[in-house]
Amino acid sequence: MPLSILSFGLLLTAACANQLLLPKALPPSVAANASSYTDCANAAWPPSGVGVELVPQAPDDELKAMLAVIDPARIEATIKKLVSFGTRHTLSTQTDPKRGIGAARDWIASEMRKYANESEGMMTVTVPGYTQGVASRIPFPVKISNVLATIEGSSDPARVYVITGHYDSRVTDVLDYTSDAPGANDDASGTALVMELARILASKKPKATIILGAVAGEEQNLYGSTFLAQTLKNSSTNVEGMLNNDIVGSSTGDRGQKDPFTIRIFCQGPPLTESASVTATRLQIGGENDSPARELGRFSNEVAANDVTGMNIAIINRLDRYLRGGDHSSFLQQGYAAIRYTEPNENFNHQHQNIRIENGTQYGDLMEFVDFEYTARVAKVNLATLWSLANAPGRVRNVTVDTTTLGNDSKFKWIMSNDTDLAGYEVVWRPTTAPLWTHMLFVGMANTATVSLSKDNMIFGIRAVGKNGYKSPATMPFPS
Ligand SMILES: *[C@@H]1O[C@H](CO)[C@@H](O)[C@H](O)[C@H]1NC(C)=O
Ligand SMILES: *[C@@H]1O[C@H](CO)[C@@H](O)[C@H](O)[C@H]1NC(C)=O
Ligand SMILES: *[C@@H]1O[C@H](CO)[C@@H](O)[C@H](O)[C@H]1NC(C)=O
Ligand SMILES: *[C@@H]1O[C@H](CO)[C@@H](O)[C@H](O)[C@H]1NC(C)=O
Ligand SMILES: *[C@@H]1O[C@H](CO)[C@@H](O)[C@H](O)[C@H]1NC(C)=O
Ligand SMILES: *[C@@H]1O[C@H](CO)[C@@H](O)[C@H](O)[C@H]1NC(C)=O
Ligand SMILES: *[C@@H]1O[C@H](CO)[C@@H](O)[C@H](O)[C@H]1NC(C)=O
Ligand SMILES: [Zn+2]
Repeated sequence: MPLSILSFGLLLTAACANQLLLPKALPPSVAANASSYTDCANAAWPPSGVGVELVPQAPDDELKAMLAVIDPARIEATIKKLVSFGTRHTLSTQTDPKRGIGAARDWIASEMRKYANESEGMMTVTVPGYTQGVASRIPFPVKISNVLATIEGSSDPARVYVITGHYDSRVTDVLDYTSDAPGANDDASGTALVMELARILASKKPKATIILGAVAGEEQNLYGSTFLAQTLKNSSTNVEGMLNNDIVGSSTGDRGQKDPFTIRIFCQGPPLTESASVTATRLQIGGENDSPARELGRFSNEVAANDVTGMNIAIINRLDRYLRGGDHSSFLQQGYAAIRYTEPNENFNHQHQNIRIENGTQYGDLMEFVDFEYTARVAKVNLATLWSLANAPGRVRNVTVDTTTLGNDSKFKWIMSNDTDLAGYEVVWRPTTAPLWTHMLFVGMANTATVSLSKDNMIFGIRAVGKNGYKSPATMPFPS
């Protein structure tokens, strides 16, 4: 590029730094009078010259090595074993050694214990449970048990991340607990993914604590995940993120459409647990797209949609699919940031269906409809997300933007963490209509930063940067 054009560009940038983008094609009559503005019509938005374009965090060598050992054959073997229990319905037998949810629970726990055995005491396996009394989908009291593998964080154990799949299954009638309910995709796929991550993570030392859970009772009303989320909340546990994997086994939809390199993430908007006044402020400042769940979704997209996982991530800005629910909801209800991973095109003939052939069509959640290579790639997305969360500093706390005076600049403040692995902080931003962060500015070890862009025109976030290069999910500032 000729130097003259380059410097012309820089001049424009400065002149237009805080102006809104005008339409590229102005009506001729307006354009004639708007000549002094038309230069800005071609200016970058957001204005360039402040910060740099965001470079997504890439997996380091340690993470790449972990991603490389995710094994589709093991995932297949796990799903096959889970299907072999006939039914894993929450109301099914818990005493038969071969059939029913009790046998499945015991097998998952024994596998997890084998992994824990390799962890030099860092991973412990527990099977906490409780008796659920009679309710609409529970005709008689039943024991609900979760299988949890917990890896104690090496330097920040009080900060916790949770990942789950549900190991219970169902057929057409949600109360039918005797018919075969293979649940190969819903949700042996998610359970197998979590177990594969437990196997790989058992010998690793993440900074923060990771809980890998196979939960029960999902199909009856999210009972297992509710119990887990409440237990964590009741002990004031700082859960900074929860990943729910439910129906992550097939990339082929019911019109035969294939999308084997995409995983959806469902991300809730304004948290329902916020106080009315916080929600009112959130809506007033245009913060409805920057809930903790949305920031978690953006984070997953940044660290896990890349050549190493081989996956694209489709962020869906809603709590869940229409008429459906999932275990992330249990965590959202306790005020925790939680998101749901689900395949891109569901085939409803293969979900919650009695196994049968009707009018030449095979119904049922069978092994033959699961693509193990696909589930392995989704596992990579989850491992990249979970590992990056657990090795980054925690979310930045008490982030505010100064709104006490009118001005062109944006001035931020936050509480500095005393995490000794911290390298500093970074301001990120994007135009209000953009889905993902577009720009970043490293500001070092500070608890304030001023950016010469208007808070009125951009969405900002503050994130913490570790000495290891890992960065936390961003936190959107609220007015001071
Ligand atoms: C352009 O400017 C002239 C002179 O100031 C004014 O008469 C005219 O109405 C303006 N046209 C438009 C479209 O604003
Ligand atoms: C755990 O490891 C020890 C020593 O390697 C072995 O003897 C034991 O059988 C293992 N236990 C399980 C549950 O795999
Ligand atoms: C958590 O605490 C609430 C309120 O005290 C209680 O209703 C609930 O049963 C507790 N849940 C668990 C799993 O401890
Ligand atoms: C199968 O065909 C019969 C007769 O046409 C029809 O009544 C029934 O609804 C069909 N079943 C399904 C699942 O489409
Ligand atoms: C940080 O935020 C919490 C929760 O809103 C509040 O209770 C606390 O006082 C704040 N701390 C500071 C130093 O502002
Ligand atoms: C806004 O920016 C302009 C141009 O840089 C400057 O002249 C003006 O003083 C600024 N206003 C405030 C309130 O800072
Ligand atoms: C700093 O460390 C102390 C002791 O570990 C802890 O109690 C405190 O909460 C920490 N402060 C912050 C802001 O993280
Ligand atoms: Zn499910």
